[in-house]
Amino acid sequence: MRWFVSGRDLTLSRIAYVNGQYLPHSAASIHVEDRGYQFSDAVYEVIMFVAGSPLDMEPHLDRLDNSLAELAIIQPMVRSALRRVIMEVVRRNRLQNGIVYLQVSRGVAPRDHAFPSVNVDPALVMTAKRLDFAKIRDLQNRGVGVKTVPEIRWRRPDIKSVSLLGNVLAKESAKIDGAYEAWFIDQAGLVTEGTSTNAWIVTSDDTLITRQLDQAILPGITRAVLFSVAAELALKVKEQAFSIKDVLSAKEAFLTSSTNFVMPVISIDGSPIGRCEPGDVSKKLVDAYWRYVELTTADNAR
Ligand code: PDD
Repeated sequence: MRWFVSGRDLTLSRIAYVNGQYLPHSAASIHVEDRGYQFSDAVYEVIMFVAGSPLDMEPHLDRLDNSLAELAIIQPMVRSALRRVIMEVVRRNRLQNGIVYLQVSRGVAPRDHAFPSVNVDPALVMTAKRLDFAKIRDLQNRGVGVKTVPEIRWRRPDIKSVSLLGNVLAKESAKIDGAYEAWFIDQAGLVTEGTSTNAWIVTSDDTLITRQLDQAILPGITRAVLFSVAAELALKVKEQAFSIKDVLSAKEAFLTSSTNFVMPVISIDGSPIGRCEPGDVSKKLVDAYWRYVELTTADNAR
């Protein structure tokens, strides 16, 4: 059955979840005094779906718990209920390949910087978005360029908060320069991470290097999975910060995230990395990661 409202086919429209209700995207809204809106007092997660199955949902929900705990925001619901809502958003959007975006804010309260003195319910919002894997594969085959920018973000990027203005400005600056991603450089001249990705290089002896987990970077789920993918390929991984000079003398570079999987990086600030094409190690990791994605999402579907 199809539902038409003002000539729009609602059966085809996107559905958002907002505080207990499933609403057409155009009708989904939050309160003007939501603390996420006024103070970026909110956290989020992005979970990839492949053929309708979640990729690494549990580690994403674990990280959400950590982000909430760091900011002392109450959990909006127990894990099993959250899983059910996520899968219902997927079902109502007929999502096959794409992401579920999930955001939890401290809730709605009269504007005051300190936490509300009475307990307010956290606000939970979810949306779904389709992604074209052919486009991702095409970029993986060609490789992408990155631009370096000074690290101007707040000092807790390990918390997945929606305080993303530094990330937004950096990504816009990369876009203006025709780069795919921006890599932040800290005061010591070392790469922290990308605006929405973790950063990696490959040394001449095929060792993978990525920054150690500290408060300067998000503990990426893709980053964590890649440690086991690399082990299966008998590749060594070292957690260590690296500089722009290290990137320029590296054999290869790549970035990781839920929406990019493993993406070869072939230039930095317009200068080539290695042969300025996806290298052998990166290509192996791209393929091995796709195999991991196909295997784990097929397991989930059973
Ligand atoms: N970004 N670093 C930052 C700053 C990020 O925002 C992300 C994820 C990552 C990679 O994390 P993961 O592998 O768990 O996706 C690293 C999501 C995709 C986003 O903001 O859209």
